[in-house]
Amino acid sequence: MKHLQDRSFLRLRDFTGEDLEAILKLAEDLKSGRDTHPYLAGQNLGLLFHVPSTRTRISFHVAARQLGGDAEGYESSQLQLSNSETLVDTAAVMGRYLDALVVRMYDMGRYRWGQQGLETMAGVAGVPVINALTGVEHPCQIMADLLTVRERFGADWKRRKVVLTWAWAERQKSRGVTHSWLSAAALLGMNLTVAFPPGYEPDDDYLDFARRTAATSGARVSLSNDLDEAADGADVIYAKSWMSMRGTKADDAELRRGLRHWRVGLGHFERANEGAVFMDCMPLIRGDEADPEVVDGPMSIRYDEAENRLHAQKAILAALLGRA
Ligand code: CP
Repeated sequence: MKHLQDRSFLRLRDFTGEDLEAILKLAEDLKSGRDTHPYLAGQNLGLLFHVPSTRTRISFHVAARQLGGDAEGYESSQLQLSNSETLVDTAAVMGRYLDALVVRMYDMGRYRWGQQGLETMAGVAGVPVINALTGVEHPCQIMADLLTVRERFGADWKRRKVVLTWAWAERQKSRGVTHSWLSAAALLGMNLTVAFPPGYEPDDDYLDFARRTAATSGARVSLSNDLDEAADGADVIYAKSWMSMRGTKADDAELRRGLRHWRVGLGHFERANEGAVFMDCMPLIRGDEADPEVVDGPMSIRYDEAENRLHAQKAILAALLGRA
């Protein structure tokens, strides 16, 4: 994995399926204790959040410390960014103190703003920049999701049917999980169905990437406007709300007004395969994206999924920064 050293981690599609597999294997070794190397010894991580976070923030702090390094978190409101200092100056200066930057930046009213901001920072920081969620991608979340599916289903995990479904929520959320899942499934040759009501199509750019990549990886990536049908034979049903690509926040609020019924319920698990699991990256509100019987039912593995943020991110940090 030497070729991953010093790279930024902004989009999963910047990597190969082999790269993702190698990071997952390292995550398993770190989680099991087979690998205890202090990959980050003497290194300092800076975490910059423009918007709230529970899982990402805490798991990155703990990951850095467990790997022998240190981490410090900052809100953009605490930095001179709030007095109009540029991202370029901020990133260039942070890179002089820190060994890597973990950045969460998005604005639901400006789709590509956060991703472009991270790319700008990565261009001048001189150290790796890790995407902790933009409006376009959530690569660290999906590495944790993949680890969770892999440990749940074992050797044939890539052939299991994963249904990632749009699900109703009041709050308008990033499309990042959807796009990073499309990228990962295509790169790894997985079986992914993305279900959504009309109006919630993923970004065409990501659909094109997934189709092109699937043609060589053997992935099965399909789209459905019928959640009931999509749930047939599913092994994973993953609920995620995301904002429509069409129009403004007001247009999206109008579009989702009639879609409260689009959420995961026990009926979907009756159509799914025996042993099917429910995933959700959280945060969630019970009764929004899924019924409480599913959210808190025996099929729900969302706490394992949340725990795996720690193990997956340790592997990402070790791959990018590790001096083994
Ligand atoms: N799933 C996720 O990114 O959680 P947080 O927003 O709490 O970090």
